Amino acid sequence: MRKFWLGFVIAVIIIFVGGFLYVRFGFVDPRADIEIGHLERDLAMPSLDAAVDRRAPDIKNPIEANDANLIAGMKVYQANCASCHGDIHHPHGQLADSFYPRAPQFVDDAPDMPENQNFYIIQHGIRLSGMPAWKPILNEQQMWQVTIFLSHMDKLPPDVSTQWKNAAGGTTSQPSQPDAPAQKGHAGMKM
Ligand code: HEC
Repeated sequence: MRKFWLGFVIAVIIIFVGGFLYVRFGFVDPRADIEIGHLERDLAMPSLDAAVDRRAPDIKNPIEANDANLIAGMKVYQANCASCHGDIHHPHGQLADSFYPRAPQFVDDAPDMPENQNFYIIQHGIRLSGMPAWKPILNEQQMWQVTIFLSHMDKLPPDVSTQWKNAAGGTTSQPSQPDAPAQKGHAGMKM
């Protein structure tokens, strides 16, 4: 029995030391544009879902999903999120395949997580991914507005859709101007 335990402890030490050396001496592929591996898909993704489910405070969205808030959320989204997550004219965003793990493309695959969880992710970002924490940049109201915009993205009222089409007609790299009036027409008209 003692031999068994000795063998067990040695095996555990070998696994840990082997894992450490594998990571420390550069055997992990650092590229972001490779195919998503099994470890990521089968372990890391469910682990992220479970971690957000465990940690996101159980709060309700304090703002109403009316046109004004959806339009404000759309502007925050278009200015800050569209290049990675896609927009109404570019459902497959410019950087869609440039991250490991990939940035979800919300126009094709509407976010179905509860609003308190999306809000938590928007506030704090996701470690070891391209998803930034927005708390230092957006205020609480803007973060809730973009949260409701996400949960209504697949069922937007016609007026909000039209405004989004106009806003997305311009450049997606403009700075955040959530309070500015909606951009009418295309960037080319502003000569
Ligand atoms: C620089 C690229 C980038 C920008 C800009 C960005 N994101 Fe992300 N986002 C990502 C990536 C990559 C992921 C996937 C992370 C993962 O799965 O581990 C992600 C994940 C998310 C998720 C979780 C989705 C899910 O189903 O798991 C939400 C919600 C989200 N982003 C919202 C936003 C919002 C809102 C903005 C703008 C305020 C934004 N993101 C801006 C790259 C970005």
